[in-house]
Amino acid sequence: MSWSPDSWKERPVAHAPPYDDEEGLAQAVAALRRLPPLVTSFEVEQLKKQIAQAQRGERFVLQGGDCAETLDDCTPDVITRKLKILLQMSMVLVHGSNRPVTRIGRFAGQYAKPRSKDIESQDGVELPSYFGDLVNRAPFEPEARKVDPQLLLEGYKHAGLTLNFIRSLVDSGFADLHHPEYWDLSFLESAHLNEELREQYRQTVGEVSGALRFMQALGESSVDELHRVEFFTSHEGLNLHYESAQTRTVPRREGWYDLTTHMPWIGERTRDPEGAHVEFFRGIRNPVGAKVGPTASPDDAMRLLDALNPDDEAGKIVLITRMGASHVKDGLPPILERVKKEGRTVLWMSDPMHGNTHSTSSGRKTRDFDAVLQEVEGCVAVHRACGTVFGGVHFELTGDDVTECTGGAEGLTEDDLERNYATVCDPRLNYRQALEMSFRIASAI
Ligand code: PEP
Ligand code: CO
Repeated sequence: MSWSPDSWKERPVAHAPPYDDEEGLAQAVAALRRLPPLVTSFEVEQLKKQIAQAQRGERFVLQGGDCAETLDDCTPDVITRKLKILLQMSMVLVHGSNRPVTRIGRFAGQYAKPRSKDIESQDGVELPSYFGDLVNRAPFEPEARKVDPQLLLEGYKHAGLTLNFIRSLVDSGFADLHHPEYWDLSFLESAHLNEELREQYRQTVGEVSGALRFMQALGESSVDELHRVEFFTSHEGLNLHYESAQTRTVPRREGWYDLTTHMPWIGERTRDPEGAHVEFFRGIRNPVGAKVGPTASPDDAMRLLDALNPDDEAGKIVLITRMGASHVKDGLPPILERVKKEGRTVLWMSDPMHGNTHSTSSGRKTRDFDAVLQEVEGCVAVHRACGTVFGGVHFELTGDDVTECTGGAEGLTEDDLERNYATVCDPRLNYRQALEMSFRIASAI
């Protein structure tokens, strides 16, 4: 079975963006092919090593960011707040898991979305659906919804700008966030919480603050050396024109690297082992994630592993389960048992967001804090019972003060959703909900 960066074109492409300007597409892909990579093979291999450690239970992985990143959100404030929440959550998780935590953003390229329908209609008007900023734009207007191959280049450039800023922040004192005064934790005293939970939070806040003060006392440079802040990038590898154009061989290493990102993942809708996405991702050296939803059987999981990682290389495969809180206890065990019985090496992570989405009576898509937490806790219990390693969590979140998910210490209700519902796709945990979630996970793992 020979493979090339273009062999996916011979397979059915699920959720292919409906490009009609073929010449424009060919030109954009050719331009993308010539441009330098966004990440390096060295970094990709570094992440693979860390994933191998997480597979053995020596590390925990935190992956998070927007459902759909937008070009407009490529601003210093938005990026800084996203890093801040991921860094703070990771520090809480280090504390809870007693393991180093690898941070992987859903950023610098999370611009392509699968949609259930190609056409969206509003008040009798029909336009192409919004497929993410790599393909078209979100406003429900004919011009915005035009599928435009030039956006492949715009996406690449914004991913590059985002990464450039992240790398400079990380290199120049972003570790300031080790200082306790950067943490807003007062909301954990909220009256919406029962006394038992408030007490639990007080205790964790005390412990985390103590650890922060200790690190501060060590002095910035030693903190920096001891805890070099590192962020990796990831996005759903949905648009194969984009991925394949940046896939190349590099000097002194074998094989092909997809250098748009460190860890692309295959979505729930595109994980058919015979389909174009699995064909493409089986050929690259990067670690690859795959979502595993409630319709997946143990056989499906095995076929996916056979296609993507026939040699069972460590650090290569991340299976991100997203069963839904009510399904995790019966849906997950048969898959875990089978993969364990076959002796396959996998990092098991939980995406507790995508199986727990529902619409309010006013038509807003939302998720409830408790259901999300329940899925994570369900995963922890199921992995314990199966003797498999629960190695990470995957969240849709933002560092901003949005109102998209209900619940949490602030007690957000469906009525609050109208206040600042800003996502262009799925609802995200806001800063406080995300931080609180990390406290709850830290005490569960
Ligand atoms: C996503 O991660 O935004 C997504 C579409 O998830 P899934 O493929 O699990 O539905
Ligand atoms: Co989503």
